[in-house]
Amino acid sequence: MKQLRFAGRYVARHWWQYLLGIAALYMVDWVNVYVPEFTGRIIDGLTDGSLDMQGAMRIVWMIAGMGLMIAIGRFGWRFFIFGAARSIEREMRGDMYGHLSRLSMRYFNQHKTGDLMAHFTNDLMSVRMLLGMTVITAFDATVMLVLVLMNMITYVSPKLTCVAVIPLLVITVGDFFYGKIMHKRFKARQEAFSHLTDQVQETISGIRVIKAFVQERKELYAFAATTENAKEKNLNVVRLQALMMPVMDLIIGTSTLLTLLYGGYLAIHGEITVGQFVAFNSYVGMLVWPMMAVGECITSISQGLASLGRIFGIFQEEPEIVDGEQTDESITALKGEITLNHLTFAYPDMQEIRVLEDVSVTVKPGETLAVLGRTGSGKSTIPSLLVRLYDVADGMITIDGHDLKAIPLGVLRESIACVPQDSFLFSDTLQNNIAFGSADKTLASVEYAAKLACIHENIAAFPDQYQTVVGERGVTLSGGQKQRSSIARALMKTAAPQASSPILILDDALSAVDTDTERRILDNLKQLRAENRTTIIVAHRISTIQDADHILVLDDGKVAEYGSHEELLANGGLYKSLFDKQQLEKQLHEEHPADQEGGAL
Ligand SMILES: Nc1ncnc2c1ncn2[C@@H]1O[C@H](COP(=O)(O)OP(=O)(O)OP(=O)(O)O)[C@@H](O)[C@H]1O
Ligand SMILES: [Mg+2]
Repeated sequence: MKQLRFAGRYVARHWWQYLLGIAALYMVDWVNVYVPEFTGRIIDGLTDGSLDMQGAMRIVWMIAGMGLMIAIGRFGWRFFIFGAARSIEREMRGDMYGHLSRLSMRYFNQHKTGDLMAHFTNDLMSVRMLLGMTVITAFDATVMLVLVLMNMITYVSPKLTCVAVIPLLVITVGDFFYGKIMHKRFKARQEAFSHLTDQVQETISGIRVIKAFVQERKELYAFAATTENAKEKNLNVVRLQALMMPVMDLIIGTSTLLTLLYGGYLAIHGEITVGQFVAFNSYVGMLVWPMMAVGECITSISQGLASLGRIFGIFQEEPEIVDGEQTDESITALKGEITLNHLTFAYPDMQEIRVLEDVSVTVKPGETLAVLGRTGSGKSTIPSLLVRLYDVADGMITIDGHDLKAIPLGVLRESIACVPQDSFLFSDTLQNNIAFGSADKTLASVEYAAKLACIHENIAAFPDQYQTVVGERGVTLSGGQKQRSSIARALMKTAAPQASSPILILDDALSAVDTDTERRILDNLKQLRAENRTTIIVAHRISTIQDADHILVLDDGKVAEYGSHEELLANGGLYKSLFDKQQLEKQLHEEHPADQEGGAL
């Protein structure tokens, strides 16, 4: 019920289109029904000689006029109703996209991309059908049915009407059951098809892995099985469709036969005229479609409502992370003092595992905090919490002394320039990718950020330079190039001439660059610190972080060690052993560089 009200809001905005469309539809039906009556009148008039040439011509002109009205009416209803349905589809799609992008990470973790895509394609299509084609069919079928039956009864004969209609009723009932079976087979076909697309998509995205593991043949066999299944499901639909036509012909044939027999009998006995007899045969033909349509309508209404329900479900999902009562609108800028206060956190769908436990840290504006720890120890979770992809308990994280929830979300996210661990570039030019999210998109600023991120020289070497298109539609960047483009994007927010984000987070963002380049990037970042930018660096290499003011060593979500480089070395704990190991590796590399380049052998 609620979803009907939801759809009603969209329909109401286009009420005049529906009104005009339905008026046009009604006109077409009304005119259509009178054409056989006119033809009958001419025949009768010509038979009994009461119609002279002039009268016949008048009726011919009227029929021509009716033809014109039908043509205009048909254009009208398609134009108005299909137009409205397409507009509603567009509006709903736009609203859905907007709503989806506001939903929290939890929602995206819990829903498969394929399902979300299906809402935007299949479900919206069914709703469009419901609000367009089905509206027309339902209205048209009802009006036609009533008008034709009334004309059959009043203009010709009630008895004959009964005889002709009974076999046609079989169509309506049969079509309803046919629709049900067909729906199941359609669904199976749809599933087989989406399975097939999924498989092709995975193969294409994972082609490197497939080739590297020489799995082409195995994938081919798996794909053959999928296509075979899709063919089978398709044939199931085709078989049923193929059966439908002869059965329909049989029923219509029976009805026509009965009409001819009984109608002929009535005409011979003078109960109806020849003209009425001819008109009646046209009417029987006109009844077939509405009778079928009733069954079809029931199926497409049930499909459309199911899709509408799924779409409505998305709108019922409330974005969890939004500005609320706690938000203090007077906070318009941040300085960048970050405090973690006994921070404890578990992901919403894995409540039993504490990813972070009792982590307390304070970083003043301009200071650098380094986070170190084994893989899975909770390092990347800290940046996610700082930009509020997930919420924590009140007071556990504060910036400039404000609880995160007090800071307007826009201000918070504007204030943090973050390089995520898995850098993502859009299918767009490098300039747009680096300027993504920045107000200042000028080439000069982009170049400035790219130079700080040590990617400028690489970009300058491409034939199209900053206009090089990357991502799926363009060139493939190396892992290190991607990372540095991603760093440049964050620096646009915090280091470019007019940028002012006070906090910079690098989550393992230097893992794919060599140590020399890493050094150069870190030196460039030092100048930011002088400008009071707070920096958080997540890393695995001690060389990356040894200059940091605070080093936080995490072990399984807990603070294993905390202090400066010198303090931690003196501690002789996890940090010290990691340092010794990496020192040793460095010495080995310096003594035998060729061994290292030869790889693990
Ligand atoms: N969205 C999520 N939902 C549930 N659990 C998650 C989610 N993201 C991460 N985790 C879990 O939280 C733990 C910490 O993950 P996190 O990404 O913070 O580790 P990390 O220290 O950054 O590791 P790495 O060095 O490999 O990047 C892991 O056990 C991981 O499985
Ligand atoms: Mg990580």
